[in-house]
Amino acid sequence: YVVGVDLGTSAVKVLLVNREGNVVKEASREYPVINTQSGYIEQHPEDWVSGTFQALREITSSLESGEQIDGISFAGQMHGLVMVDAQGEVIRPAILWNDTRTTLECQEIVSTLGEQRLFELTKNPALEGFTLPKMIWVKKHEPDNWQRLHQFMLPKDYVRYRMTGEIAMDLSDAAGTLLLNVEKGEWSSDVLEAFHIEESRCPKLMFSTDQAGGLLPDVISETGLDASVKVFAGGADNACGAIGAGVLKEGLSMCSIGTSGVVLSYEKRGDLDFDGKVHYFNHGVPGAYYTMGVTLAAGDSLSWYRKNFAQELSFDELVREASLTPAGAEGLVFTPYISGERTPLADAIIRGSFIGMDKRHTRGHFTRAVLEGITFSLNESLNIFRDGGKVIDQIVSIGGGAKSDFWLQLQADIFDAEVVKLNSEQGPGMGAAMIAAVGSDWFNDFTECAERFLAVGTVVKPNMENKEFYKSLFSIYKQVYNQTKELS
Ligand code: XUL
Repeated sequence: YVVGVDLGTSAVKVLLVNREGNVVKEASREYPVINTQSGYIEQHPEDWVSGTFQALREITSSLESGEQIDGISFAGQMHGLVMVDAQGEVIRPAILWNDTRTTLECQEIVSTLGEQRLFELTKNPALEGFTLPKMIWVKKHEPDNWQRLHQFMLPKDYVRYRMTGEIAMDLSDAAGTLLLNVEKGEWSSDVLEAFHIEESRCPKLMFSTDQAGGLLPDVISETGLDASVKVFAGGADNACGAIGAGVLKEGLSMCSIGTSGVVLSYEKRGDLDFDGKVHYFNHGVPGAYYTMGVTLAAGDSLSWYRKNFAQELSFDELVREASLTPAGAEGLVFTPYISGERTPLADAIIRGSFIGMDKRHTRGHFTRAVLEGITFSLNESLNIFRDGGKVIDQIVSIGGGAKSDFWLQLQADIFDAEVVKLNSEQGPGMGAAMIAAVGSDWFNDFTECAERFLAVGTVVKPNMENKEFYKSLFSIYKQVYNQTKELS
């Protein structure tokens, strides 16, 4: 077997996968998000570690004697700043990818380096979610904590560090720090110097499939993993999601709806860009890249909505109610900016809205507007890819958005592309398991692994009538931002 650990924002999910790519056992543990004030989103790294260890123990307890795990790897929520001191102790709670306290620090990055230079060096713009602005924030607001910083890490790197005692970071996750020269795959000395960050505080860089140390004795006894299990570096959750969705060659794209929403497209070249309008990161596949747009609150908008207005309904019941209302929710439009927005607006201050409420509207209309608004937001990123010359005819959909036939059809209609749902287990955890499988030499490369592990299930085609209708509604949706931004 191999094990894939998906360290998400709401929970960690651990998969035990056999040589055919079937998930034979799954275990997960939830953990809290600390949201003490608007824009501040943190987590305790210890919660990730205890959740992961408990889930691993559940997995290993299910093994029959003689059954063996060859390798383990990780997919992690991106960008979160974990700080450890020289003793390896965590200095403060991790500041997460969807924390938006760093608008001023982003401005400072741009004024120090210049937008163009930053972009040349890192291929990406300064956005609140990325790690460098969080580091500058800590330096400014918590100088004692900054002083103590020995090494910074990203969330799944910390969990791996606790398992192996070795500090490392893979390129796909390092790409989201804004400290990496993405094209060259090395820490950017120019960026580090500009912000007075010693390179010694940055972890050793690796490919996702590189081995990252052996298991510590107390981890072996706590998790039940065998000392022979190989630990591979792993990757950013979106890079792993792309691997798990089979996005392994030019022309393939993915839409992933979890807490955040992502549209992503494979890039084989490191010397391209989209003028900084979307992210350009290293893939988990060595030598490859991907371009990506992010909606901060995708599944999160739906969860927020359900928690506050329809707690008694399951997600299935909620979506069913929405499906009974007409396309466009009879004039009700939702913008999913409940935590600000990343792509394409890069606006941490804007907040969401329902526009056009009418006496006739029911809860089903509101739910439909939420689903449409999330999908419109992702469509804005897809349009940037298309404006940059990419042809996107087919998109593999994973995560919460792929669980409902109704939402899959909505994606096909709004994206104006065929939407594919895999029959096999998908998502970042599967990508992490594939990294462990390729790292363990079960296959020569990811393509060979995907041929064995992944299977196309349903292909949903756009409905001609709805597609045209959504085109006109999309232009109204886009206006909401400009018309309301002064009010936020
Ligand atoms: C990507 C991003 C999110 C997180 C979610 O840039 O911030 O998709 O990776 O875990």
